[in-house]
Amino acid sequence: MKIHGQPYRTIWLAPDGWRVGVIDQTRLPFRFETVTLSSAEAAAEAIRSMVVRGAPLIGATAAYGVALAMRMEASDATLDAALVLLGATRPTAVNLHWALARMRERLAPLPSQERMAAAYAEAAALCDEDVALCRAIGEHGLGVIRSIQAEKAEGATLNILTHCNAGWLATVDWGTALAPIYLAHDGGIPVHVWVDETRPRNQGAALTAYELGAHGVPHTVITDNAGGHLMQRGQVDMVIVGTDRTTASGDVANKIGTYLKALAAHDTGVPFYVALPSPTIDWTLSDGVRGIPIEERSAREVTHLSGLGDDGEVRSFQVVAPGSPAANPAFDVTPARLVTGLITERGVCEASAQGLARLFPARAGRPAA
Ligand code: MRU
Repeated sequence: MKIHGQPYRTIWLAPDGWRVGVIDQTRLPFRFETVTLSSAEAAAEAIRSMVVRGAPLIGATAAYGVALAMRMEASDATLDAALVLLGATRPTAVNLHWALARMRERLAPLPSQERMAAAYAEAAALCDEDVALCRAIGEHGLGVIRSIQAEKAEGATLNILTHCNAGWLATVDWGTALAPIYLAHDGGIPVHVWVDETRPRNQGAALTAYELGAHGVPHTVITDNAGGHLMQRGQVDMVIVGTDRTTASGDVANKIGTYLKALAAHDTGVPFYVALPSPTIDWTLSDGVRGIPIEERSAREVTHLSGLGDDGEVRSFQVVAPGSPAANPAFDVTPARLVTGLITERGVCEASAQGLARLFPARAGRPAA
């Protein structure tokens, strides 16, 4: 994707060939700043503090975090320590554990002198693959958009609701939920996106709106509570969201509030799709409500907001009554029965064990790699 006319991925190798560049997503949408990571500790902190976020990008950053550790010292002990450090950063997105398992599998059998080069190569390959997976999700999702569009009057705008940020900023490029929307828009389909603001961290208002605006996709930011009302009024043709972990039976963990959108969509007959690359599937889990670990984040994300003051300065301010406690579960689980379909790199399937097994016969029923 392009920022001010310059093509960007969300993660790249610095010109020195070893440090890792990322976009500081905590500064968007008011400032576009990049950060250069030079250690596994810095990569872990970037994930923890949400300088980088979104399931696929968390995985990609962790992979480069391992490479940075291997540059310092490529012993078994350092490899193990890096895997533990990075694996402890955020609990819900399974891409993190998938990426680290892949790095361990690639590096552990190698002699230490070969590990650094192999780690950088593997992290780069993982990033390139993520771009290809997201692009393929875009193509398959475009088919879904076309079929829903075909039911509308010719030339009518298709209204798509999304939650959180599952665009290119959440991946290496393209995005998951937003990839089909970009392709539809670029292909001349008149789309308009309802963007849930996504409290408490406002990934929708800050990041999804930023990306869609930069690409010229018509969109409107709404409060998290407006979606059900719009669906009742026939103003939403479909919902597409991303996911941080989807079980082998099709239960979907995503940003807190997704479940309520799925309930409203179910009640109003609005198709509810989830876009995901296969590294987001946790083949070891079936029951998402009981099995998926849900991250509890700081109460301060609820009690305080940050935004642009009239003086042009970004500042933080309190919105909750002083002394009131706040709770901050960061994700929820939408049961498979509320999901119309899963849009993957291999096509669209029912959100069920059978649906996923049809697309991924080699993985279904086997423990995670
Ligand atoms: O807490 P975040 O911002 O990392 O949460 C991100 C989401 O919930 C996204 O919807 C999800 O990772 C899918 S991204 C392609």
